[in-house]
Amino acid sequence: MRYIVTKNKQIKKRMRSFNEYYSLLREAIVSGNLKSSLDRGAFTHPKQILNREIINSLGLKRHRISLGYGQEVGEDIVREKIVERENLIHGTDYNLENVTVVAGAWFGVEVVIEEITQKYANKKPKIAVIGPTHYQLFQRPIEVLGLEVIGFDFVNFKGSTPKTKEEIDQILKCKPNVVFVTNPNNPIGEYFPSNLLRYLISTCKKRKIFVIIDEMQNFLATDGKGINYGKWIKAKNVIRIDSFSKHYALAEYRVGWVIADKSIIGSRYTGITQHVRGLMGNAPRAANDAIVKLLDFEINEIRNKIEHPLGRRIKLLYKKEDFIIKLLSKNPRIEIIHRDACFNLTVRIKDFPSDIEMSRRLMNRGTLIMPCTGYGYRTEDVVMRITFAERWSRIKHSMAVLTSILNEKK
Ligand SMILES: Cc1ncc(COP(=O)(O)O)c(C=O)c1O
Repeated sequence: MRYIVTKNKQIKKRMRSFNEYYSLLREAIVSGNLKSSLDRGAFTHPKQILNREIINSLGLKRHRISLGYGQEVGEDIVREKIVERENLIHGTDYNLENVTVVAGAWFGVEVVIEEITQKYANKKPKIAVIGPTHYQLFQRPIEVLGLEVIGFDFVNFKGSTPKTKEEIDQILKCKPNVVFVTNPNNPIGEYFPSNLLRYLISTCKKRKIFVIIDEMQNFLATDGKGINYGKWIKAKNVIRIDSFSKHYALAEYRVGWVIADKSIIGSRYTGITQHVRGLMGNAPRAANDAIVKLLDFEINEIRNKIEHPLGRRIKLLYKKEDFIIKLLSKNPRIEIIHRDACFNLTVRIKDFPSDIEMSRRLMNRGTLIMPCTGYGYRTEDVVMRITFAERWSRIKHSMAVLTSILNEKK
């Protein structure tokens, strides 16, 4: 079998591994001992996207009408740009009614599931998750909404996504009401094969199953293209979620978006929008403006072949990845797992007790690397996610610590 099946109890355990990691992390921060962190990305230069004009708009010159209340579905200009970019890439005909802004992709997943749950008035929907993925996303569905979540985790090191229609059919045998897919997945960054996604969507459509696709890792694709679906992606049962948290390391902006049929997007008192209303789907002005600017860069690149102003710097990330690959591939205790996208390199470490123990040892020596139990990997498989979107000095420090731990006598 290429996948393992996990139920609520094990999923909760996986979720809790984030608690363990973040408690250790807090201790490490308080100790003042941390010198590098490769557990998340940071590479934007805010000045390039938050220019003087935008800083002025924060308070110095309020030249546009501020829509604090009244546009909880998200600012029109942000949604227009999202629609324009999506239609350019996929040949779709999305319009403003197909998009709502949410407070990040994580929250997007939560409200989408909440909305679907509400649609099933007399029964609770069952969710099949095709992992590995970020299992923290399912704390609210399991513990707040009381839903049954079944994980199908491709964590046996034979590829991290389904490869055949038979595997999709097998997964659907659990009769879910919702299938959740990450494209590309986290932590590996492997794309869900397009033909299988299309098959999944059409099969689910016939069986009245929703397909939620979380695309927030779709960035820095090794094939230079990334996601490019085609018109078929705009289906009534498909809900797509994205943000620039990874693309531009802008997690703190908390701007994400959901693209779906208008019956799911809804408006003030219906659909997803009713769930984000009190939280303000309309993000802070500076965040909205920065997102619009970045979308403009991307649209210009696709439509007019104008080089993305951040493009060259983003491409430099490949050099950092190469540096880590060259260094780690010399080490017999490390197996590097191929990535299709995003700025993480995932490795499996041999002859070591657990991923959390590895994190602890790394933190004691002043660096952070993400353990992957929370994504569906077995702790004893010691899968670690190394983010290469960091400064050279931090990467070198962190890799020196990792290799010295691996070179120690067992
Ligand atoms: C699959 C997936 N979705 C969503 C998120 C969180 O995204 P955001 O910062 O946009 O809420 C993560 C975070 O790593 C993730 O792995």
